[in-house]
Amino acid sequence: MGKFYDSVPVSAIVRIRDMMYTVKDPFRLDQGDVSFDAPDTFKQAVAKAMTENRTHYLPTAGIPPLRKAFAKKLRDKNHIPVESDEEILVTNGGTHGLYAVFHALLEPGDEVIIPDPEWPPTMAMVQAAGGKAVQVPLREELRFRWNIDDIEKAITPKTRVLYLNSPNNPSGGVLTKEDLERLAAIATAKNLWVVSDEAYEDVVYRGEHVSIASLPGMYDRTIPVYTLSKSYAITGVRVGYFAIKDKALRDRALKIVLYTTSNVSSIAQYGAVGAMEGSQQCIADFTTELLFRRDMFYQGLQEAAPGMFSGTPPDGAFYAFVKINPEVAKNAGIAGESLSWAMAEYLIKNARIGCVPGVDFGANSEGYLRFCTCRSREELTGALQSMKEALSRVAAR
Ligand SMILES: Cc1ncc(COP(=O)(O)O)c(C=O)c1O
Repeated sequence: MGKFYDSVPVSAIVRIRDMMYTVKDPFRLDQGDVSFDAPDTFKQAVAKAMTENRTHYLPTAGIPPLRKAFAKKLRDKNHIPVESDEEILVTNGGTHGLYAVFHALLEPGDEVIIPDPEWPPTMAMVQAAGGKAVQVPLREELRFRWNIDDIEKAITPKTRVLYLNSPNNPSGGVLTKEDLERLAAIATAKNLWVVSDEAYEDVVYRGEHVSIASLPGMYDRTIPVYTLSKSYAITGVRVGYFAIKDKALRDRALKIVLYTTSNVSSIAQYGAVGAMEGSQQCIADFTTELLFRRDMFYQGLQEAAPGMFSGTPPDGAFYAFVKINPEVAKNAGIAGESLSWAMAEYLIKNARIGCVPGVDFGANSEGYLRFCTCRSREELTGALQSMKEALSRVAAR
């Protein structure tokens, strides 16, 4: 088992992050870390927990007020029929939640259907749990949604899980209610589990976020996975959660949480209670600002690098996942076996801009590049200016 981990890939996002540490005055558009400050409701609850010396061991599943707040949120906001707080397990962010869920669900060789493009740790965690990631392309012409017929074709006798990530990282594609209804019918007919990663539930600009677990009967076979990282700007604090109705599966997942963390940080959990019970205004404020930054970046990109990138501003999440024009790139001297890597390396070295090559999100996504648009307006403007300067230096040669 130890050696087996040598075959589990390290995401290029981590590789790029390490490259970025060598860059002076970088523009960190490589990682999905929002530039906002955490809401006061969270910070005050953290301070109170410290003053009250809440620094001791906790129940592995999470503190009761937090499980209660999450269960209520799932019922009221996501319309998921959670009956008891017992169904909620608190995790060390969404990553830990997905890790526990895949390890609880998968047997060696089980196949998991995943979008292409997808946030790379998902594929790695499926592999770490002994499963096989089967990526099915999202269609750019469908605003980065699946053609659901493709899902039906990808199912084999080994398929055990359908993993949904809507809004999708990196493409921002948002599945519609009709998509989810069709997927629900397929999952039911083929007796599949559904893992619904809703990390970006609050970042939707067009259409609405619907959890597949809210559709009739679907919570029985769906594990919805959430994180507070993005919605409350606390990526480094590490609080997430998921809900499982099935008691036996939940007990199994609890053991995985137990032996990977014992309990999530006490201070983080008390802070999270403050965030959940307080005003939710920050979420609406963040989304309004993220929409502005999205549009600002897409507009600026055309001015900074005319003809180099194409793509429609996404319906959700906070990334620009754009297609590289190989001809324009070649004219600028940017080419390589992997165009997306060549472009990423070019922008990092020549313009100090962190970005992630499309191929890292799936083989079908070679030729694309991801920029994170949740950075501050100043950082986005600086990155665009730096890109413009780097490309004009090439043109002048
Ligand atoms: C699709 C997706 N799921 C889950 C996560 C997990 O986030 P965290 O571990 O910070 O809670 C991320 C983070 O970027 C993500 O993009």
